[in-house]
Amino acid sequence: MADKMKAVVKKNGEFGAVMEEVSIPKPKSDEVLVKIKATSICGTDVHIYEWNEWAQSRIKPPQILGHEFAGDVVEVGKCVKNIKVGDYISAETHIPCHHCKPCLTGQFHICENLKIVGVDRDGCFAEYAVIPESVAWANDRSIPPEIASVQEPLGNAVYCTTVTDVFGQSVVIFGDGPTGLFATGVARVGGATRIITVGMMPFCLDIAKKMGADATINITEVKDVAEAIIEANNGEKADIVLEMAGAEKAVADAVKVLRKGGRMSAFGVLPGEVTIDYNNALVFKGATIFGINGRLMYDTWTKVRNILSSGRIDITPVITHKMPLDDFAKGFELMLDVPKKAGKIVLFP
Ligand SMILES: NC(=O)c1ccc[n+]([C@@H]2O[C@H](COP(=O)([O-])OP(=O)(O)OC[C@H]3O[C@@H](n4cnc5c(N)ncnc54)[C@H](O)[C@@H]3O)[C@@H](O)[C@H]2O)c1
Ligand SMILES: [Zn+2]
Ligand SMILES: [Zn+2]
Repeated sequence: MADKMKAVVKKNGEFGAVMEEVSIPKPKSDEVLVKIKATSICGTDVHIYEWNEWAQSRIKPPQILGHEFAGDVVEVGKCVKNIKVGDYISAETHIPCHHCKPCLTGQFHICENLKIVGVDRDGCFAEYAVIPESVAWANDRSIPPEIASVQEPLGNAVYCTTVTDVFGQSVVIFGDGPTGLFATGVARVGGATRIITVGMMPFCLDIAKKMGADATINITEVKDVAEAIIEANNGEKADIVLEMAGAEKAVADAVKVLRKGGRMSAFGVLPGEVTIDYNNALVFKGATIFGINGRLMYDTWTKVRNILSSGRIDITPVITHKMPLDDFAKGFELMLDVPKKAGKIVLFP
């Protein structure tokens, strides 16, 4: 095996990233080396690429970008027990410590000391990547690499949408980004009987229709968003709302359209603090709000594998672009373009 590989590296404090030749990493005793077959661009990668305030405070360049992938294991460390050379894997991005209280109570996804692939250590926008065995997820061979590479954000959508049953209920999804679009398909598979996807990008709202939305609402085209949602929901407030936009306006509209006794999933990451009408939005409404961080390990991954390998969900409409890793800059440009003309972008090393 060669000892050098191509990798997309974030260099010191500037916009963008560069393709460089670097050494192929060596797996430590509890790690595996993966030959990447497909890798997809996430919003987090875009933040690092842009070098926003969060990235400046968290990332220590030089660092290889990327955390969503599918690939084949080519080498394992000497203490690795369950993953073998030749296994076809993806990875949970959140690396838990296994010692804190959430970990000890089985809540690994909200570990107090989480390390994140592609954020706190080198990622997978490269020909090879090293990850701990503890987060390696053996894929079903029937799932093609470009599909298997987006299981992490699809898992976000599965956890967010199905944290309680959606069967026979109305679901309003705020956000027409990749996770909102995946959630639209997941709500459909989960048996929701009225699905309304709310966003502001015509290109993405068209994808929402393909993913199974009964109605879509472009917030820039209606006078009163809450009224438009209730009208689209046959005059009723929603049983379930998913905030997957990360916008204060979406939070305000979400609590307005949620029925008494309804469920809200709080998934979007807002730029700052928000004000809500605590009494009416929560207390008197008897609402249940779930904070959704990451994916349940590994309940969510099992469900993701099952909906994909059974063919119950078709996520191909969300994967709008496939390109060689060499064209990563074009991929990032597309991700940054407004109005959006991309869903998920998959890169092939
Ligand atoms: N909780 C988690 O574990 C987790 C994980 C990944 C991402 N996130 C967050 O989830 C959110 C969605 O991420 P993403 O990558 O799917 O999408 P994104 O951030 O790319 O897109 C969000 C979309 O929301 C739409 N939007 C903006 N304001 C809106 C409003 N008022 N009502 C309805 N839609 C509106 C925009 O059209 C935009 O396309 C982001 O805030 C992201 O930071 C959370
Ligand atoms: Zn991701
Ligand atoms: Zn922990």
